[in-house]
Amino acid sequence: MAIEIAKAKPVAPPDSTPVDPAYLKIRDLIYRISGIYYSEEKHYLLKSRCERRMAALRVTSAPEYFEHLTIRGNRDAELRLLLNEITIGETYMFRHPAQLEALRNVILPSILQAKGLISLKRLRFWCAGCSTGEEPHTLAMFLLEEKDKLLAGWSFEILATDLNDNSLEAARAGIYGEYALRNTSDAMRRKYFKDVGNQKLQGNDLLKAPIRFERINLSDDSKMLFQKGMDVIFCCNVLIYFDLASKRRVVQHFYSNLLPGGYLFLGNAESLFQVDDSFRLVHFAGVTAYLKPTAALAGGGKK
Ligand SMILES: C[S@@+](CC[C@H](N)C(=O)[O-])C[C@H]1O[C@@H](n2cnc3c(N)ncnc32)[C@H](O)[C@@H]1O
Repeated sequence: MAIEIAKAKPVAPPDSTPVDPAYLKIRDLIYRISGIYYSEEKHYLLKSRCERRMAALRVTSAPEYFEHLTIRGNRDAELRLLLNEITIGETYMFRHPAQLEALRNVILPSILQAKGLISLKRLRFWCAGCSTGEEPHTLAMFLLEEKDKLLAGWSFEILATDLNDNSLEAARAGIYGEYALRNTSDAMRRKYFKDVGNQKLQGNDLLKAPIRFERINLSDDSKMLFQKGMDVIFCCNVLIYFDLASKRRVVQHFYSNLLPGGYLFLGNAESLFQVDDSFRLVHFAGVTAYLKPTAALAGGGKK
């Protein structure tokens, strides 16, 4: 966890109740471990999420809870449980259809052409911050549909990662209701899911085969350093919770983990403006993406 502890900023609560300084220490601990920063306006959220864990532990004060997070024997487990509470996982299948069109029409053809010159016909995708798995399952459907067309003769794998253990467990199970599937066509549902009752569908083996789920904290340099050789990285609606310093650090890891000619996708409302200038911004119909220029192959990249 190489992110430096955020300098304690003075926090004025929205009401006149003084903020317990233990919550500021918890805020800084969360920032140091995960890169997620609770600004002053979000302090009430942090407090309510800590309170859920405090109730579970029958702890009545913030200083005592801070002890559980830092010096008690169960501190690592408790920190993980708190991170499970504070990470927000809103997602659904086919959330970013324009990204898939850009992949089909421009990105994959250019990557295949460049990689086709070398012998290994294998593609690597990474969904970083995959929540309950809708994004990697969508990508798997898309790639499987292209298997005998654009991707004939190629193999592919999807690394799907998140910090939240509960989300990852749900992602591995791959059971979804109508909310998650609302943009998924009947044809896709029939081909890639089976009915498990209770108005739920579960991804079948065909759908699950290309996906590998793993717990990776994007702020953990020791893990981030070893995800090399990616062709396309999706990190959508994740970095919005990070402050600038943490964003920069994560994006630099993405840059060095991507192959030259590879792309990074962010969420629709996100950009790398003032975060990183190594990538080249590319506009597609309805979406933008960030290209790692191929000049980087010859040492032209910054990192
Ligand atoms: C809003 S969801 C985005 C899901 C999906 N990418 C999408 O766009 O539909 C944000 C996810 O980022 C994860 N996240 C937040 N901080 C993280 C970190 N430091 N490392 C890994 N994942 C993190 C959360 O656990 C959550 O599942």
